[in-house]
Amino acid sequence: MTVLILNGPNLGRLGRRQPEIYGHTTHAELAERCQEWGRDLGLEVEVRQTNHEGEMLDWLNAAADAGHPVVLNAAAWTHYSYAIFDACAQLTAPLVEVHLSEPLQRPEEFRHTSVVTPHAATVIAGHGVDGYRRALEFLAGSL
Ligand code: DQA
Repeated sequence: MTVLILNGPNLGRLGRRQPEIYGHTTHAELAERCQEWGRDLGLEVEVRQTNHEGEMLDWLNAAADAGHPVVLNAAAWTHYSYAIFDACAQLTAPLVEVHLSEPLQRPEEFRHTSVVTPHAATVIAGHGVDGYRRALEFLAGSL
C-alpha cells in the first residue's frame, strides 16, 4: 500500500522560503529523502505538493477511496480549511499530521488551531524535514 505524502501551499518553495523557519532543504530534496526513508522501512512512498486546495481535496478523496495512509502537511490550510477537515474525516487508513516548524510555538495565533489534528493518529511538528522520516516510521509501525 502506497503512503501518500501530501504537501500544501507554499511548500514548493522549501529551501528558499523563510529558511530560518523552514530550513534549507528543497521540496525536491525532501521528496528524494522520503523515497529513501520509505525504501529503508519497506514502504512505497509518493510525494506531492500543490498550491491549489481543490487539487489537495481530490487527492484526499482518492486516498479515502483507495485506503491509502497519508502524511499531510496542509501548511496554511491546516489552520482554517473546513474542506480539509471534512476530507481528512473521510480517510480510513492512518493519517499523520506533519509540520516543519512547531505552529503552537509560533507567535501568530491563527497557527494555534488545526483542522487536521482531530483526525490525525499523531502530530509531528518542529523537527524540520526529519519530521517526515518520523511520520514514515510511525506508519511503518502501525500498518
Ligand atoms: C507549516 C506551518 C504552517 O503554519 C504554515 O502556514 C506553513 C508550513 C510547517 O510545515 O511548519 O505553510 O505547515
